[in-house]
Formats: sequence, structure tokens, C-alpha cells
Amino acid sequence: MLVTLTEMMQGLPERNAAVPAFNVFGYEDASAVIAAAEEVGAPVILATNKVALRYMPLQVSGALYRSLAERAKVPVCIHLDHGDGFESAAEAIMSGYTSIMYDGSQLPLADNIRNTREIVKLAHACGIPVEAEIGAVGYTDPSMNVEARLTAPGEAKVFAEETGVDALAVAIGTLHRMEEQSAPIDYARLAEIERVVSVPLVLHGSTGVKDDDLHRLAATRISKVNIGTALRMAFGKTLRSEILNKPNEFDRVALFARPIEAVKEAAKQKMLLLNAHQALNV
Ligand code: G3H
Ligand code: ZN
Repeated sequence: MLVTLTEMMQGLPERNAAVPAFNVFGYEDASAVIAAAEEVGAPVILATNKVALRYMPLQVSGALYRSLAERAKVPVCIHLDHGDGFESAAEAIMSGYTSIMYDGSQLPLADNIRNTREIVKLAHACGIPVEAEIGAVGYTDPSMNVEARLTAPGEAKVFAEETGVDALAVAIGTLHRMEEQSAPIDYARLAEIERVVSVPLVLHGSTGVKDDDLHRLAATRISKVNIGTALRMAFGKTLRSEILNKPNEFDRVALFARPIEAVKEAAKQKMLLLNAHQALNV
């Protein structure tokens, strides 16, 4: 069942639940993530990041993911992750995406507010919710040239009020593309943000979050938890071992079977930690 981000996020804090947004890159991992969600009984978000965008046009990924979502037995949202402006937002909406992120986190506050507000106006006119980022979640790789900045609660309040966003990504200690689960979560900062901001909050770079922190965060106002690297590691490492173990196999359907299973298992584990299976209980 295809849903928007706003529909999916309703009532999550009351149920101590958060939904994972998994970065996916095509049929194999998208269908594995949906199979995981169906087995666990959880809603799930399929997210298209910049790498995926360069790999597959939004019109193609939109049609593919919509078709998978419509066939799914659980709610599925299709999300543009880290969108860079008005054009990609418009293209995603026209391609059937049901949630848009605009990332102006590297811009001065006034520019981030102005751009986000324009995208909110466009998206809301089409019935599509918008996520934006305040503070900046950095990257482990310095060549990405992204300046990391923890979210200032006062800025988050102003940003949420002035832009009308539906979800707010905050920087509270994570970094994108961590391969170890060791991010130091700043719970005091999160509590202060929760006190002054009323929209649902989003955590990026969540591969680097320890299991017990993921479970603890599910009980906060963090409602969407972005996870990419964990699934790419599950797919890539399993594929490498399949290729090494089966030197005569050249059929991709055969080589992909175990990597797809590994993605499904990794996704299920994150869903359970986030209590995502409780999200649908009314
Ligand atoms: O927007 C995507 C996420 O923030 C993914 O981060 O690859 O570090 O899990 P991650
Ligand atoms: Zn991110």
C-alpha cells in the first residue's frame, strides 16, 4: 500500500516506534526491504539518494517503487533523500514519490529557510510532505566536503516555524557512512529540540548508531531513521563471498539470492530495534 510520509508518521511517538528509511538502489534491495517489512508487519520507507539518482532516472525508480509499494501488504512510502533543489523535488513529485527531502544544510540559515519554503509550497500544493535539515549531519569521508554542525535547538525552532516542513532532520552526533556502530548520541540536545519543535524528527547516518541507542531513540520524537550503509554492506559483503565461493557461477539471479536474503535480514533487525512492528497497532 502506497502512503505519504505524513500518513506513515502518524502516532509513532505514542507507540514508542520509528520507521526506517532504507537507501535502495533498484529492484533487488527494494523488494528485499519490502519483504522484510511484510514479515515483521511494519511500514517502511524506500529512499533514493544522490548516488541512486545518478544510477537510475527518478521516473524509472518512481515507477518501479510505486509498483512494488502498491503490491505490498504493508504501508510503503517512496522518498527523495537529500534533494538538492526545486527541480529534483518537482521531478520526484511528477515521478510519483510520496515524500521529498530538501537538504539546504550547507547553506546559511536564511537561504536554507527561503529554499525550503519554496519547496514546501510546491510539494504541499501536490499533497506531498517535505523533510528538511537543520544543523548538518557530516560524512566520514572528508572528500565529501560537507561541514558537520550539531543542531542548535533555537535554530531548529525558527526553521520549523518559518518553513512549515513536515519532518525535521537534526544533527545529534551521527555521521553518514559509518561502518561501525559507535556514534555518540547527544540525548540532552535531542530533548531540548523536542521541547521547542513540534514536527516529527528525523535521524540520518543511522548505520553508525548502536543497537541499544536505536531502541532508545524509537521512544523519542525521532520518527524516521535513515539507514543506508548497513544494507549496502550486507549486500556487498555477501555478494563478494558468493562470487569467491562459486567461481563457475555467472548467473546474476543465482549470485544475488544470498545478498538479497542478507539485506532482508539486516532490514528486519533494524525494524525490530526501532519497534517499527508496533507502528501499525492501533
Ligand atoms: O540519508 C541517508 C542516511 O542518512 C543513511 O546514512 O548510510 O550512514 O546509514 P548511513
Ligand atoms: Zn542522510
